[in-house]
Amino acid sequence: MELIPKDHNTILELIGRVENQLVQSQTFTELEPDLQKFITVWQEVIAPHFEAEETGLYPDAASEDGDTGRLVLALIEEHQIMTHTFRHLIKAFEQKDVPIIISYGIVICDMLREHIKKEQEKLGR
Ligand SMILES: [Fe+2]
Ligand SMILES: [Fe+2]
Repeated sequence: MELIPKDHNTILELIGRVENQLVQSQTFTELEPDLQKFITVWQEVIAPHFEAEETGLYPDAASEDGDTGRLVLALIEEHQIMTHTFRHLIKAFEQKDVPIIISYGIVICDMLREHIKKEQEKLGR
């Protein structure tokens, strides 16, 4: 589980950059480089990170007490919602649909930030 705190920092830094770009951009060309990077990091870091949490960290934490067990179920559900939203984001990216890219992009960045904050505060990761 050594990887997880490092992943969180990588993800938070990336979110900050992507959000700035999303609020400043008017065209697909302006959005494309940061979005492409976000998609790559999602596939290479974020998706494996979710999987590692669900198979390692979460079951360990859930065994501590009932409250943590419930928190873990909520966190898994958030992974599913974010993964689903990410698929919509990819579709919008392929279609170069700028307004949809911006709205899904901002939603997904917000969700990721809140999710990581919960893990850091409540699971100490
Ligand atoms: Fe997570
Ligand atoms: Fe995490």
